[in-house]
Amino acid sequence: MCGIIGYTGPRAATPLLLESLRRLEYRGYDSAGVAVLDAMTTSVTVVKSERKVDELARKLDEVGMPAGHVGIGHTRWATHGRPTVLNAHPHMDCTGRIHLIHNGIIENYRELRAQLEAKGHELPSETDTEVVPHLIEDCYRGNLESAVRHALSRVDGAYALVVIHADEPDTVVAARLNAPLVLGLGNAETFISSDITALIPYTKRVMVLGEGEVAEARAGVVTVRSLDGTVVEPRIITVDWDAEQAQRGGYPHFMLKEIHEQPQALRQTLRDRVDPDTGLVRLAGLEIDDGVLAGVREVHVVACGTAYYAGMATAHAIETLARIPARVSAASEFRYADPLVDATTLVVAISQSGETADTLAAVREARRRGAPVLAVTNVVGSAINHEADGVILMQAGPEIAVASTKCFLAQLVCGVLLALYLAELRSALPVEELRALAAETLELPDKVEGALQLEPQVAELAQRLAHLRNAMYIGRGANVVTAFEGALKLKEVSYVHAEGYAAGELKHGPIALLDPDTPVVAVATRSATLAKTVSNVQEVNARMAPVVAVVTAGENPFDDMAADILEVPAVRELLSPVVNVVPLQLLAYHIAVQRGCDVDQPRNLAKSVTVE
Ligand code: G6P
Repeated sequence: MCGIIGYTGPRAATPLLLESLRRLEYRGYDSAGVAVLDAMTTSVTVVKSERKVDELARKLDEVGMPAGHVGIGHTRWATHGRPTVLNAHPHMDCTGRIHLIHNGIIENYRELRAQLEAKGHELPSETDTEVVPHLIEDCYRGNLESAVRHALSRVDGAYALVVIHADEPDTVVAARLNAPLVLGLGNAETFISSDITALIPYTKRVMVLGEGEVAEARAGVVTVRSLDGTVVEPRIITVDWDAEQAQRGGYPHFMLKEIHEQPQALRQTLRDRVDPDTGLVRLAGLEIDDGVLAGVREVHVVACGTAYYAGMATAHAIETLARIPARVSAASEFRYADPLVDATTLVVAISQSGETADTLAAVREARRRGAPVLAVTNVVGSAINHEADGVILMQAGPEIAVASTKCFLAQLVCGVLLALYLAELRSALPVEELRALAAETLELPDKVEGALQLEPQVAELAQRLAHLRNAMYIGRGANVVTAFEGALKLKEVSYVHAEGYAAGELKHGPIALLDPDTPVVAVATRSATLAKTVSNVQEVNARMAPVVAVVTAGENPFDDMAADILEVPAVRELLSPVVNVVPLQLLAYHIAVQRGCDVDQPRNLAKSVTVE
């Protein structure tokens, strides 16, 4: 969702803000703006656009790239009020001296707005954000940091915000509560962002702000306080992502790059996780006592979107291997469902970003009920990592495309590793079987490489299917998840209506939708229920719907029943979604390209959804 960048230091702020806003575009947004403070004139130039960053850059060129070494920039994903120049951030106070950018939602903004208007403040925008600079104006007694803290003590809701004041020309103040914000520490300079990805070209030393903390940055010196003014010890981490990883590197889209990075990403996910001496899974960072893990009565996975499907696979792997009852809930539902979790339930929160508001809220609810919480995330220092008891890091590198691909695979693999670890702790499987499974898991990166060889065939198929309006995806057992995720990918990036179904469910309703213009993508690789899936495909054939089948190489069960056959490397069923989903990702990608869609930033979607 909205992206934040702030800077104070020796560099020219405007080009840096623009460059960083481009890096934040992937989060999803509709309008953008910057405010640059010139210390020579102690004046602030604000330029905003109701469209994309390119348009903002054009406007900045027109006004002649404002001078100054302190500035803030924002990409806005509209919630309160349409994407207009007036509603775009930065917002300012009545004096025009205080400028602010904000992510999150000020829940009591109506009441605050009424109070401010009664005092004579004028708030021309429709946003909730605008109350904050006016509150700061009210609280300002010559010290911006103190005014921000006092203003925020009157605010309910969620915020990550950055503020500048023309009278304090080297200072940037930042604060966060229930929304992500990190500071990049450079040499006599400080960068502030909603997102580590925007910082990695400049520095790998990152300060993570805690909930309700306020940072005051003056060039290279940062002081952190809690809202009551107590100085707190900052938490500094080193990020091991490379700046190149966050660039397209010759690929036309990040999505395609990330699909192709999957073997390498999985090698990183698996790094140091199978002990070479014992052949068994080892998970550093779990931080939950083995005794507690061995004793849990149930596992409850919470997640959203693609991570929810990875959650289904994780629950399936845990039930199959560790024989612990496991279920998955959409994180947005969990919190309000009076969930049956307590100290004997292991709650597993899966989230690429580690910042998804619904998943974070579910983590808090689970902890409130006494459950041990394990996070599976890709971003060090993220809020969910901070609040969970233990973490399994995906180690997949930055994922920029809104539609998740490599992180889905990393989540699936982390789920299998966790299931194997729990199975070992509970002696649910013979050690030999655990070893065999761990060894096969280590082979997955190579198998995914094999699946990627299908790209030319899938690209040609996509040309033929690009005109379609509906598609159905089916699978059984472990691959119900593959069908769900394949359908979700197509919906997200190509805007084609697609549904994923357990193959056996087709005849109980959705078969009514089938006709010669509705292709059915059937995942029919080696499995205990393959013969049943073949029968289901026969039912599809009888309705004249064209079939695209994903089958195990050399084991095509279909004769001429399927119009298109995509052969993937052989993998045991439990692990096979990791390989089988690859051609479905490629299919969604190439259909989206054929249809001229904005693949990396699909309409209405955001990479990191920080509102409930
Ligand atoms: C958004 C993204 C999805 C993602 C979901 C969960 O909706 O568009 O691609 O799967 O959030 O994100 P998370 O960061 O929690 O995995």
